[in-house]
Amino acid sequence: MQGIHIVATGKAVPARTVTNDDLSRTVDTSDEWIRTRTGIRQRHICEEETCVSLAADAAGEALLQAGIDKEQIGYVVVATTTPDYAFPSVACMVQKKLELSSEVMAFDISAACSGFLYGLNICRSLLMTGKKKYALLIGSEQMSRITDFTDRSTCVLFGDGAGAVLLEADDSLFVHRAWSDGNSEVLFCKGVGNPDAFIKMDGGQVFKFAVKVIKEGIDAVLLEAGLTMEDIDYVVCHQANERIIDHVSKKYGENKEKFFMNIAGYANTSAASIPIALDEMVKEQKLEKGMKIICVGFGAGFTWSSALLTI
Ligand code: UT7
Repeated sequence: MQGIHIVATGKAVPARTVTNDDLSRTVDTSDEWIRTRTGIRQRHICEEETCVSLAADAAGEALLQAGIDKEQIGYVVVATTTPDYAFPSVACMVQKKLELSSEVMAFDISAACSGFLYGLNICRSLLMTGKKKYALLIGSEQMSRITDFTDRSTCVLFGDGAGAVLLEADDSLFVHRAWSDGNSEVLFCKGVGNPDAFIKMDGGQVFKFAVKVIKEGIDAVLLEAGLTMEDIDYVVCHQANERIIDHVSKKYGENKEKFFMNIAGYANTSAASIPIALDEMVKEQKLEKGMKIICVGFGAGFTWSSALLTI
């Protein structure tokens, strides 16, 4: 078996929403600036919730939808850069909350906003070589923990949330690519123990990089699959900025509808943005069996990755 199949999805976001107007009361910004530059209207920000609780809620919803025997889950993989603890991993804590068998491999992966896409191929490899039938892949972020709410150039851009997919190996067409170039100057956040552990970013540089590599990522999986954009039903980009996605869709001469967007309601939830989008698409009944979609993401590292999946 070479491919993977999404059996079920789930998502969880904090109860509290923070609008652009809310932010404009604490930093020098405006709803107009944020909407026109990014497409964001609101974001969810944790109060009681944490990266672990969001991850567990999203995964719990996916399991409920799937209705499978939990004993058949062999892998819990969480893509995150904002874990509750340095250790244990979010994945181990999710395993306990969901009362999964101890016969699971549970670990986190750190590839920033590309984490979910890196995780897809990791899960595929595990499913192809292991004994268990299912893998739970979760993207969960509490970006508000690493956001400097006095820095208007970053604090308006991010939100908290989690998305989860339950995966199973199958024979469907699946093409995956991933890259990394080691840039640690343009987009970074210092780690544990650093008093200035907040997101630092040269937004303009990231924008240019994003437009270039999203196109390259899509082209690479299309080429390998021997398909063209006409064969693709939806493109699900990492939701960082509506204008980035618009730039890419224009390059393909495609109508905007093929490029799913939900950034208005969530802002940039990093590794969670693509699984949250997939769950919304399932709930909006946009995805039908046999459809082909491309997911593509980019982020700190720089990392970037794309996957062509069959629904
Ligand atoms: O997951 C990946 C992470 N990040 C990204 O994908 C981000 C990619 N980049 C972007 O989305 C855009 O570059 C931003 C939204 C971050 C910025 O948009 P921009 O059109 O590139 O704006 P800019 O940085 O060139 O700033 C334009 C102006 C500046 O003022 P001056 O120098 O022209 O007077 C900024 O100081 O806008 C100012 N500005 C703001 N004004 C109001 C920056 N942030 C704000 C703000 N509110 N929140």
